[in-house]
Amino acid sequence: MSYHNPNTPPRKSATFDDYTLAEIRRAAATGIYDIRGAGTKRKVPHFDDLLFLGASISRYPLEGYREKCDTSVVLGTRFAKKPIYLKTPITIAGMSFGALSGNAKEALGRGATIAGTSTTTGDGGMTDEERGHSQTLVYQYLPSRYGMNPKDLRRADAIEVVVGQGAKPGGGGMLLGQKISDRVAAMRNLPKGIDQRSACRHPDWTGPDDLEIKILELREITNWEKPIYIKVGGARPYYDTALAVKAGADVVVLDGMQGGTAATQDVFIENVGMPTLACIRPAVQALQDLGMHRKVQLIISGGIRSGADVAKALALGADAVAIGTAALVAIGDNDPKWEEEYQKLGTTAGAYDDWHEGKDPAGITTQDPELMKRLDPVLAGRRLANYLKVMTLEAQTIARACGHNRLHNLEPEDLVALTMEAAAMAQVPLAGTNWYPGKAGF
Ligand SMILES: Cc1cc2nc3c(=O)[nH]c(=O)nc-3n(C[C@H](O)[C@H](O)[C@H](O)COP(=O)(O)O)c2cc1C
Repeated sequence: MSYHNPNTPPRKSATFDDYTLAEIRRAAATGIYDIRGAGTKRKVPHFDDLLFLGASISRYPLEGYREKCDTSVVLGTRFAKKPIYLKTPITIAGMSFGALSGNAKEALGRGATIAGTSTTTGDGGMTDEERGHSQTLVYQYLPSRYGMNPKDLRRADAIEVVVGQGAKPGGGGMLLGQKISDRVAAMRNLPKGIDQRSACRHPDWTGPDDLEIKILELREITNWEKPIYIKVGGARPYYDTALAVKAGADVVVLDGMQGGTAATQDVFIENVGMPTLACIRPAVQALQDLGMHRKVQLIISGGIRSGADVAKALALGADAVAIGTAALVAIGDNDPKWEEEYQKLGTTAGAYDDWHEGKDPAGITTQDPELMKRLDPVLAGRRLANYLKVMTLEAQTIARACGHNRLHNLEPEDLVALTMEAAAMAQVPLAGTNWYPGKAGF
């Protein structure tokens, strides 16, 4: 006899939803955890939850066609003899050669150069294509030291010491064997075709005091010319920013949990770290408390997609942003035109569940020589440059509407929040009120 009332439809559990059940079955069948690329897929408070107020009687807007609005930024003004001048505050984030094809790295360099901004190496070292095609190239110094080469430190325009990433703060990197071609293996000094893990912490320092010494070494080897960035995942942004400044950083790069990765455990991506929106104000507060806001520049990344996102990050106190996922989409990644092939990989265009596999039909996250040929780096570079231009214009439009003749004059006062969560995280008033929950207390 059934106790279920036949007049009420069966009800599925919100806790044990279809996705969760499928994951339990997959884990039970295979005994292996799920690895994938991209950032968190869950919905977390984000820039979408903020709005600009624009000008009214109390604020005077600028006229778009006649009045200038400066978008440039200088990074590395604290100690470096040669700070970096960028025409737009939108930079290209570090993405490894290995995760990406040589053509994709070249396309990123070409696009960034046309737009007047920088691009960044990644785990696994610097390729000639990207150095050759990037006017301004930031060289990552990572825990793995894969591809690390003192000559390349000197060939770079800035150095980014990677402590962590937003997708996996505290975790190391992964590159599956199918992406370890002869060239990738040679650059990393590793065997071909075997899954590889990148360390989660640097081998030669354990805390800020040692990091300070490391940074001095990097400055000496590069004649104090290059700005030194420190990149951290969004975990404890107030203290991490303060410690990065103490250790001698010229620039702090802060990557929130929406930040993409080429590959890591899904459980990590979805359950560790803080949303990008929640990271910015504590980091800015740390810089202000140390009298270093705008002296040590702050680059924010993790889920930046549009000029509005850029303008919001800047209004909250960032000096620049970095983009990874959006740059890959701009050059052609996960394009629906390859849908049939994505389906053969068991995914769909727009899910970004193929990045770790090395079989990217778009020729971007692969080392397969045939697939790689599908990406024309010149065309892809132009697409990225167009996208960067549009984002810059969008941010500029918003700044003018708020009455500012510089993007960097945007301020929290220009913003309101649509939700209590966003109001608390961004510390801007809930729309229609002069109030936000809580008070700074990180
Ligand atoms: C394919 C791919 C490879 C990446 N490789 C690296 C890397 O080698 N080093 C690193 O610090 N971050 C790496 N990242 C993270 C980016 O530098 C950046 O923090 C992140 O992509 C920003 O978030 P977004 O993708 O939402 O723009 C990678 C991201 C992607 C998508």
